[in-house]
Amino acid sequence: MSQVAARQSAGVEQTIARIQQWKKTRCAVIIAHNYQPDEIQAVADYTGDSLELARLAAKTEAEVIVFAGVVFMAESAKLLSPQKTVLLPVKEAGCPLADTITAEDLRQARQQHPQAAVVIYVNSPAEVKALADVCCTSANAVEVVNSLPQAEVIFAPDKNLAHWVARHTQKRIIPWPGSCCTHNNITAKDVAAAKQAHPEAKFMAHPECRPEVCGQADAVLSTSQMLRRAKAEKATEFIVGTEIGMLYRLRKENPEKTFYPLSSRMVCRSMKMTSLADLADALEYIKYPVEVPEPIRMGAFQALEAMLKIN
Ligand code: 13P
Repeated sequence: MSQVAARQSAGVEQTIARIQQWKKTRCAVIIAHNYQPDEIQAVADYTGDSLELARLAAKTEAEVIVFAGVVFMAESAKLLSPQKTVLLPVKEAGCPLADTITAEDLRQARQQHPQAAVVIYVNSPAEVKALADVCCTSANAVEVVNSLPQAEVIFAPDKNLAHWVARHTQKRIIPWPGSCCTHNNITAKDVAAAKQAHPEAKFMAHPECRPEVCGQADAVLSTSQMLRRAKAEKATEFIVGTEIGMLYRLRKENPEKTFYPLSSRMVCRSMKMTSLADLADALEYIKYPVEVPEPIRMGAFQALEAMLKIN
Protein backbone atom coordinates (compact mmCIF):
# COMPACT_ATOMS: atom_id res chain seq x y z
CA MET A 1 0.00 0.00 0.00
CA SER A 2 1.36 3.46 -0.87
CA GLN A 3 1.85 6.03 1.93
CA VAL A 4 -1.07 8.13 0.62
CA ALA A 5 -3.38 5.09 0.56
CA ALA A 6 -2.27 4.08 4.07
CA ARG A 7 -3.00 7.61 5.40
CA GLN A 8 -6.42 7.58 3.71
CA SER A 9 -7.25 4.19 5.16
CA ALA A 10 -6.22 5.32 8.67
CA GLY A 11 -8.46 8.41 8.21
CA VAL A 12 -11.41 6.20 7.28
CA GLU A 13 -10.82 3.99 10.35
CA GLN A 14 -10.74 7.06 12.60
CA THR A 15 -13.99 8.39 11.14
CA ILE A 16 -15.69 5.02 11.60
CA ALA A 17 -14.49 4.94 15.22
CA ARG A 18 -15.94 8.46 15.71
CA ILE A 19 -19.28 7.30 14.25
CA GLN A 20 -19.40 4.28 16.60
CA GLN A 21 -18.46 6.34 19.65
CA TRP A 22 -21.07 9.05 19.04
CA LYS A 23 -23.71 6.52 18.07
CA LYS A 24 -23.38 4.98 21.53
CA THR A 25 -23.34 8.36 23.30
CA ARG A 26 -26.48 9.51 21.49
CA CYS A 27 -28.36 6.14 21.70
CA ALA A 28 -28.67 6.47 17.95
CA VAL A 29 -29.41 4.16 15.09
CA ILE A 30 -28.12 4.62 11.52
CA ILE A 31 -30.61 3.79 8.79
CA ALA A 32 -29.46 3.81 5.15
CA HIS A 33 -31.32 3.41 1.88
CA ASN A 34 -30.16 0.73 -0.56
CA TYR A 35 -28.84 3.49 -2.90
CA GLN A 36 -26.36 4.97 -0.38
CA PRO A 37 -22.60 4.76 -1.07
CA ASP A 38 -21.06 1.37 -0.17
CA GLU A 39 -19.15 2.68 2.86
CA ILE A 40 -22.33 4.21 4.32
CA GLN A 41 -24.27 0.97 3.89
CA ALA A 42 -21.35 -0.84 5.54
CA VAL A 43 -21.60 1.21 8.77
CA ALA A 44 -25.41 1.40 8.88
CA ASP A 45 -27.40 -0.58 11.44
CA TYR A 46 -30.16 -1.15 8.90
CA THR A 47 -30.43 -0.86 5.14
CA GLY A 48 -33.56 -1.32 3.09
CA ASP A 49 -36.12 -0.01 0.62
CA SER A 50 -38.47 2.88 1.38
CA LEU A 51 -41.14 0.62 2.85
CA GLU A 52 -38.80 -1.31 5.14
CA LEU A 53 -37.14 1.90 6.34
CA ALA A 54 -40.52 3.54 7.07
CA ARG A 55 -41.48 0.49 9.15
CA LEU A 56 -38.15 0.58 10.99
CA ALA A 57 -38.47 4.27 11.73
CA ALA A 58 -41.94 3.66 13.16
CA LYS A 59 -40.80 1.02 15.63
CA THR A 60 -37.18 1.74 16.60
CA GLU A 61 -36.44 2.25 20.30
CA ALA A 62 -33.44 4.49 19.54
CA GLU A 63 -33.68 8.12 20.65
CA VAL A 64 -31.91 9.45 17.59
CA ILE A 65 -32.37 8.25 14.00
CA VAL A 66 -29.62 9.23 11.57
CA PHE A 67 -31.15 8.82 8.14
CA ALA A 68 -28.65 8.30 5.35
CA GLY A 69 -30.87 8.97 2.38
CA VAL A 70 -32.74 11.93 0.92
CA VAL A 71 -35.07 14.53 2.42
CA PHE A 72 -38.40 12.74 1.91
CA MET A 73 -37.07 9.58 3.62
CA ALA A 74 -35.86 11.41 6.73
CA GLU A 75 -39.10 13.40 6.73
CA SER A 76 -41.13 10.16 6.65
CA ALA A 77 -39.17 8.87 9.65
CA LYS A 78 -40.01 12.09 11.53
CA LEU A 79 -43.70 11.84 10.53
CA LEU A 80 -43.85 8.34 12.00
CA SER A 81 -41.68 9.04 15.07
CA PRO A 82 -42.32 12.67 16.04
CA GLN A 83 -40.88 12.24 19.56
CA LYS A 84 -37.52 11.13 18.15
CA THR A 85 -34.68 13.25 16.85
CA VAL A 86 -34.31 12.47 13.14
CA LEU A 87 -31.12 13.69 11.51
CA LEU A 88 -30.42 14.11 7.80
CA PRO A 89 -26.59 14.39 7.58
CA VAL A 90 -26.66 16.42 4.31
CA LYS A 91 -29.60 18.78 4.28
CA GLU A 92 -29.26 19.49 0.54
CA ALA A 93 -29.87 15.81 -0.33
CA GLY A 94 -33.23 16.33 -2.02
CA CYS A 95 -35.18 14.11 -4.40
CA PRO A 96 -35.76 15.65 -7.87
CA LEU A 97 -38.88 13.47 -8.25
CA ALA A 98 -40.37 14.78 -4.99
CA ASP A 99 -39.82 18.32 -6.30
CA THR A 100 -42.16 17.72 -9.27
CA ILE A 101 -45.31 18.25 -7.16
CA THR A 102 -46.57 20.88 -4.71
CA ALA A 103 -49.52 20.92 -2.34
CA GLU A 104 -51.22 23.57 -4.51
CA ASP A 105 -50.83 21.34 -7.62
CA LEU A 106 -52.51 18.48 -5.79
CA ARG A 107 -55.36 20.67 -4.47
CA GLN A 108 -56.14 21.63 -8.08
CA ALA A 109 -56.00 18.01 -9.27
CA ARG A 110 -58.41 17.00 -6.52
CA GLN A 111 -60.84 19.73 -7.64
CA GLN A 112 -60.65 18.47 -11.24
CA HIS A 113 -61.29 14.85 -10.18
CA PRO A 114 -63.52 15.05 -7.09
CA GLN A 115 -64.50 11.36 -7.31
CA ALA A 116 -60.93 10.10 -7.40
CA ALA A 117 -58.91 8.74 -4.50
CA VAL A 118 -55.42 10.21 -4.11
CA VAL A 119 -52.44 7.87 -3.77
CA ILE A 120 -49.11 9.61 -3.20
CA TYR A 121 -45.79 7.86 -3.70
CA VAL A 122 -43.55 8.39 -0.67
CA ASN A 123 -41.07 10.24 -2.91
CA SER A 124 -42.97 13.49 -2.23
CA PRO A 125 -42.95 16.42 0.22
CA ALA A 126 -44.77 16.05 3.59
CA GLU A 127 -47.29 18.78 2.68
CA VAL A 128 -48.31 16.78 -0.41
CA LYS A 129 -48.65 13.56 1.60
CA ALA A 130 -50.87 15.51 4.01
CA LEU A 131 -53.45 15.94 1.20
CA ALA A 132 -53.42 12.27 0.15
CA ASP A 133 -55.82 9.50 1.12
CA VAL A 134 -52.93 7.09 1.37
CA CYS A 135 -49.23 6.83 0.53
CA CYS A 136 -47.47 3.99 -1.26
CA THR A 137 -43.96 2.85 -2.09
CA SER A 138 -42.73 0.96 -5.14
CA ALA A 139 -43.06 -2.26 -3.10
CA ASN A 140 -46.79 -1.93 -2.39
CA ALA A 141 -48.22 0.53 -4.98
CA VAL A 142 -50.43 -2.03 -6.76
CA GLU A 143 -51.83 -3.45 -3.52
CA VAL A 144 -52.53 0.03 -2.11
CA VAL A 145 -54.42 1.11 -5.26
CA ASN A 146 -56.39 -2.15 -5.45
CA SER A 147 -57.41 -1.84 -1.80
CA LEU A 148 -59.31 1.42 -2.37
CA PRO A 149 -63.10 1.58 -2.90
CA GLN A 150 -62.89 4.32 -5.58
CA ALA A 151 -62.85 3.42 -9.29
CA GLU A 152 -60.57 6.37 -10.15
CA VAL A 153 -57.20 7.15 -8.58
CA ILE A 154 -54.95 10.18 -8.90
CA PHE A 155 -51.48 8.63 -8.70
CA ALA A 156 -48.58 11.04 -8.16
CA PRO A 157 -45.88 12.08 -8.68
CA ASP A 158 -44.14 9.29 -10.69
CA LYS A 159 -45.67 8.73 -14.15
CA ASN A 160 -43.74 5.49 -14.78
CA LEU A 161 -44.84 3.90 -11.52
CA ALA A 162 -48.38 5.11 -12.34
CA HIS A 163 -48.14 3.32 -15.68
CA TRP A 164 -46.92 0.15 -13.98
CA VAL A 165 -49.82 0.28 -11.50
CA ALA A 166 -52.32 0.92 -14.33
CA ARG A 167 -51.20 -2.36 -15.94
CA HIS A 168 -52.10 -4.24 -12.75
CA THR A 169 -55.44 -2.76 -11.78
CA GLN A 170 -58.97 -2.41 -13.17
CA LYS A 171 -59.11 1.15 -11.81
CA ARG A 172 -58.68 4.27 -13.92
CA ILE A 173 -55.30 5.75 -13.02
CA ILE A 174 -54.85 9.51 -13.43
CA PRO A 175 -51.05 9.91 -13.60
CA TRP A 176 -48.89 12.88 -12.67
CA PRO A 177 -46.17 13.91 -15.14
CA GLY A 178 -43.22 13.60 -12.69
CA SER A 179 -40.35 11.15 -12.96
CA CYS A 180 -37.01 10.21 -11.39
CA CYS A 181 -34.26 11.36 -13.77
CA THR A 182 -31.95 8.47 -12.73
CA HIS A 183 -34.53 5.92 -13.90
CA ASN A 184 -36.34 7.85 -16.61
CA ASN A 185 -33.14 8.64 -18.56
CA ILE A 186 -32.70 4.96 -19.34
CA THR A 187 -34.17 3.80 -22.65
CA ALA A 188 -34.87 0.59 -24.58
CA LYS A 189 -31.50 1.13 -26.29
CA ASP A 190 -29.70 0.76 -22.94
CA VAL A 191 -31.64 -2.43 -22.24
CA ALA A 192 -30.74 -3.84 -25.67
CA ALA A 193 -27.03 -3.06 -25.10
CA ALA A 194 -27.02 -4.66 -21.63
CA LYS A 195 -28.86 -7.76 -22.85
CA GLN A 196 -26.49 -8.12 -25.77
CA ALA A 197 -23.48 -7.88 -23.44
CA HIS A 198 -25.00 -10.37 -20.95
CA PRO A 199 -27.36 -12.65 -22.86
CA GLU A 200 -27.70 -15.19 -20.00
CA ALA A 201 -28.57 -12.62 -17.33
CA LYS A 202 -32.04 -12.09 -15.83
CA PHE A 203 -33.12 -8.45 -16.02
CA MET A 204 -34.66 -6.83 -12.91
CA ALA A 205 -36.10 -3.31 -13.34
CA HIS A 206 -37.39 -0.76 -10.84
CA PRO A 207 -40.92 0.46 -11.64
CA GLU A 208 -39.64 4.06 -11.86
CA CYS A 209 -38.12 2.99 -15.21
CA ARG A 210 -39.97 3.82 -18.42
CA PRO A 211 -42.69 1.40 -19.61
CA GLU A 212 -40.49 0.39 -22.58
CA VAL A 213 -37.78 -0.64 -20.09
CA CYS A 214 -40.11 -2.40 -17.61
CA GLY A 215 -41.72 -4.18 -20.56
CA GLN A 216 -38.43 -5.96 -21.26
CA ALA A 217 -37.72 -6.99 -17.67
CA ASP A 218 -37.99 -10.49 -16.25
CA ALA A 219 -39.25 -8.87 -13.05
CA VAL A 220 -40.25 -5.34 -11.99
CA LEU A 221 -39.37 -4.90 -8.33
CA SER A 222 -38.64 -2.47 -5.49
CA THR A 223 -35.01 -2.40 -4.34
CA SER A 224 -35.47 -4.87 -1.48
CA GLN A 225 -37.66 -7.10 -3.63
CA MET A 226 -34.65 -7.28 -5.99
CA LEU A 227 -32.52 -8.56 -3.10
CA ARG A 228 -35.04 -11.27 -2.27
CA ARG A 229 -35.47 -12.25 -5.94
CA ALA A 230 -31.71 -12.47 -6.59
CA LYS A 231 -31.33 -14.80 -3.60
CA ALA A 232 -34.29 -17.00 -4.52
CA GLU A 233 -33.57 -17.33 -8.28
CA LYS A 234 -31.52 -20.21 -9.66
CA ALA A 235 -29.99 -17.81 -12.22
CA THR A 236 -26.45 -16.67 -11.47
CA GLU A 237 -26.30 -13.47 -13.57
CA PHE A 238 -28.49 -10.38 -13.26
CA ILE A 239 -28.80 -7.02 -14.98
CA VAL A 240 -29.86 -4.51 -12.32
CA GLY A 241 -32.16 -1.77 -13.58
CA THR A 242 -31.93 0.73 -10.76
CA GLU A 243 -29.48 3.07 -9.02
CA ILE A 244 -26.00 1.51 -8.79
CA GLY A 245 -25.87 1.67 -4.96
CA MET A 246 -28.05 -1.42 -5.15
CA LEU A 247 -25.10 -3.49 -6.36
CA TYR A 248 -23.36 -3.31 -2.97
CA ARG A 249 -25.82 -5.52 -1.08
CA LEU A 250 -26.64 -7.71 -4.07
CA ARG A 251 -22.96 -8.61 -4.42
CA LYS A 252 -22.30 -8.87 -0.67
CA GLU A 253 -25.27 -11.15 -0.01
CA ASN A 254 -24.77 -13.27 -3.16
CA PRO A 255 -21.00 -13.64 -3.59
CA GLU A 256 -21.43 -16.60 -5.96
CA LYS A 257 -23.64 -14.58 -8.37
CA THR A 258 -22.76 -11.80 -10.82
CA PHE A 259 -24.59 -8.45 -11.05
CA TYR A 260 -24.27 -5.92 -13.88
CA PRO A 261 -25.58 -2.36 -13.75
CA LEU A 262 -28.15 -1.72 -16.52
CA SER A 263 -26.24 1.50 -17.21
CA SER A 264 -23.32 3.29 -15.54
CA ARG A 265 -25.49 6.45 -15.85
CA MET A 266 -27.85 5.18 -13.14
CA VAL A 267 -26.32 7.32 -10.38
CA CYS A 268 -28.50 9.50 -8.12
CA ARG A 269 -26.37 12.50 -7.18
CA SER A 270 -28.41 13.22 -4.06
CA MET A 271 -28.00 9.67 -2.75
CA LYS A 272 -24.25 9.97 -3.18
CA MET A 273 -23.88 13.22 -1.21
CA THR A 274 -23.47 11.60 2.22
CA SER A 275 -19.93 10.76 3.38
CA LEU A 276 -18.66 8.98 6.50
CA ALA A 277 -17.50 12.35 7.84
CA ASP A 278 -21.07 13.70 7.38
CA LEU A 279 -22.42 10.79 9.43
CA ALA A 280 -19.87 11.40 12.20
CA ASP A 281 -20.64 15.15 12.22
CA ALA A 282 -24.38 14.49 12.24
CA LEU A 283 -24.02 12.39 15.39
CA GLU A 284 -21.52 14.63 17.17
CA TYR A 285 -23.13 18.01 16.38
CA ILE A 286 -26.81 16.87 15.99
CA LYS A 287 -26.96 17.84 12.32
CA TYR A 288 -29.49 18.36 10.72
CA PRO A 289 -32.69 17.78 12.70
CA VAL A 290 -35.78 17.29 10.52
CA GLU A 291 -38.82 19.31 11.59
CA VAL A 292 -42.34 19.13 10.16
CA PRO A 293 -45.04 21.60 11.31
CA GLU A 294 -47.64 19.71 13.38
CA PRO A 295 -50.75 20.25 11.18
CA ILE A 296 -48.83 18.93 8.15
CA ARG A 297 -47.33 16.11 10.18
CA MET A 298 -50.76 14.93 11.36
CA GLY A 299 -52.17 14.78 7.80
CA ALA A 300 -49.08 13.12 6.34
CA PHE A 301 -48.89 10.69 9.26
CA GLN A 302 -52.45 9.53 8.54
CA ALA A 303 -51.61 8.87 4.87
CA LEU A 304 -48.48 6.91 5.83
CA GLU A 305 -50.27 5.01 8.57
CA ALA A 306 -53.07 4.10 6.14
CA MET A 307 -50.39 2.62 3.86
CA LEU A 308 -48.71 0.64 6.65
CA LYS A 309 -52.10 -0.85 7.59
CA ILE A 310 -52.65 -2.12 4.02
CA ASN A 311 -49.16 -3.54 3.60
P1 13P B 1 -37.46 1.68 -3.19
O1 13P B 1 -38.66 1.99 -2.38
O2 13P B 1 -37.66 0.56 -4.16
O3 13P B 1 -36.27 1.47 -2.32
O4 13P B 1 -37.15 2.92 -4.14
C1 13P B 1 -36.90 4.18 -3.60
C2 13P B 1 -36.56 5.19 -4.59
O5 13P B 1 -36.39 6.33 -4.23
C3 13P B 1 -36.46 4.81 -6.00
O6 13P B 1 -35.89 5.84 -6.76
